[in-house]
Amino acid sequence: MKHRLSMLMAATVMAAACAAYAQQPPAKSAITEEFEKFREVLEEDNPAELFEAKGEDIWKHAKGPDGATMAQCDLGLGAGVVKGAYVRMPRYFADVDQVMDAERRVVHCMVKYLGYKEADIRKQPFSNDRVTPDHVSVVTWVAGQSRDMKIAAPRKHPKEIEAYNIGKEIFAYRAGAYDFSCATCHGADGKRIRTQDLPNLRRPEEAIRAYQGWPGYRMTGGFMLTQQWRMNDCFRQQRFPEPTYLSDSITALLTYMTVTANGQVYKGPGIKR
Ligand code: HEC
Repeated sequence: MKHRLSMLMAATVMAAACAAYAQQPPAKSAITEEFEKFREVLEEDNPAELFEAKGEDIWKHAKGPDGATMAQCDLGLGAGVVKGAYVRMPRYFADVDQVMDAERRVVHCMVKYLGYKEADIRKQPFSNDRVTPDHVSVVTWVAGQSRDMKIAAPRKHPKEIEAYNIGKEIFAYRAGAYDFSCATCHGADGKRIRTQDLPNLRRPEEAIRAYQGWPGYRMTGGFMLTQQWRMNDCFRQQRFPEPTYLSDSITALLTYMTVTANGQVYKGPGIKR
């Protein structure tokens, strides 16, 4: 009996979910439009700038135990070069023989040069209403240094090509309790859950939404969230186990989405609801 009841409940949930996905409105929901207007007003005085300032301070002034600084950190354009680096990641880094996305690279440098402990960062990788970890502020500053630049993630090195291909596969990989993939929610035009319009991330004009406004200031709470957080939260949406922080699979997904968004202009850290 109990079993049949739970089957029934599962079927109801599925039916509701399917109804939500089947809806294909031609335009954005009214609430989304209102929110976007509100965001435009707020972004004139963007609270993300507070976190950028904190990140800049750490980048420029913090020193590691042996006196090393972030000036030694190579984000792909040479040691200490930050301008334009964010829109050119994920990319291959020869020193680690790996493709890294921006957040992963920043954490790598903070551990290597400033003496931050990776284990501590992994304990609290994301912000909450009590704390925005230092690496999140640094990523926010680094991102701001690519404001109004075109996304240009490289796909030349064999490992960059490999990461792109793996990311593309993960995007389409269906599994979990509901047999969802990223593409279930983000693989076609005009999908929506409740009031939230879901971008079709397979299209360049919409793949930019994997970037635009990230890192994002979460209005309900007042802290910054990064792309890595967004990815984890979507794995949760998908009823998949959440990936470990800074894992290869997230770098691969970000590589796929970023390369898809290449050529679009990044407007910098923003505001998310
Ligand atoms: C069950 C549906 C669902 C699945 C499956 C899902 N997402 Fe999402 N995704 C959402 C929702 C809901 C949002 C929030 C939209 C908003 O804030 O308006 C979102 C937002 C996003 C965003 C940010 C868009 C923006 O405008 O800021 C990205 C990028 C993203 N998802 C990628 C993924 C990836 C990659 C996967 C697969 C690992 C995935 N999603 C799986 C529902 C889903």
